[in-house]
Amino acid sequence: MEGDNLSAASITDNLKTHFIGQRVIYYPTLTSTMEVAKQEAQQGAAEGTVIVADEQTEGKGRLERVWLSPKGNVALSVILYPNMAYLPCLIMVASLAVVHCIEAVTGLKSQVKWPNDVLINGRKVCGILIESDVKGNMVDYAIIGIGVNVALMLSHFPDILLSATSLSDELGREVSRLNVIRQLLVETERMYLGLPTGGSIYEEWRDSLVMLGRRVRVISGKTIYEGVAESVTMDGSLLLRHSDGSLTKIVGGDVTLRE
Ligand code: BTN
Repeated sequence: MEGDNLSAASITDNLKTHFIGQRVIYYPTLTSTMEVAKQEAQQGAAEGTVIVADEQTEGKGRLERVWLSPKGNVALSVILYPNMAYLPCLIMVASLAVVHCIEAVTGLKSQVKWPNDVLINGRKVCGILIESDVKGNMVDYAIIGIGVNVALMLSHFPDILLSATSLSDELGREVSRLNVIRQLLVETERMYLGLPTGGSIYEEWRDSLVMLGRRVRVISGKTIYEGVAESVTMDGSLLLRHSDGSLTKIVGGDVTLRE
């Protein structure tokens, strides 16, 4: 967007949060915000410190994939020090924060594809990567990485032309990255601070998932499962019902629809 220049000050200025985004480290270009976030966390950065990049040259996706992160999009990582019990809930925090942010900024409805992709009209608009370091039964740090396609020139990326979308493509006009980032930080903090109050985040996350009740194929590590995506558990796993009636709990993987 014209005039949509990012800076640490423009993101933090009068931001309505207590800690997430109160310190922002901004880079015009960077290998990956995850790398810097990890270094900052290891040096004891304040909880809620956010690393933002205009462009990433080695954006990281889940399952060792590459995340395309050219200029014009949102790429950020948030440093958190959660209680161990809340670690599995961070996928819920992050994906619901993105869904709320997209609706608040653009009015568009989005859904979550297990475990934590966000789709609009069936196409991926956001990817989330959560990395953590656990020592014994203590979380040393956790990092939520969020990449939102705001103005991705999809014609430049034929490999993802059919599976991806961007906010400006869906809306038919430019979208302010600054508004997306600021709203994302507000929503992330709201969902994160809501964790101790109980199971409502789990229920909202479950209800926002696109694939429940449908026949899916799940690739998890070297195993391929097929069945009906029946539900998800409170620790974020997928429950898959097989044709013989048995149930498998899958902790992580990639889902595709079979219909
Ligand atoms: C995925 O869908 O595979 C996850 C993509 C996560 C991308 C974000 S962009 C900000 C942060 N920095 C990275 O290198 N990756 C995450």
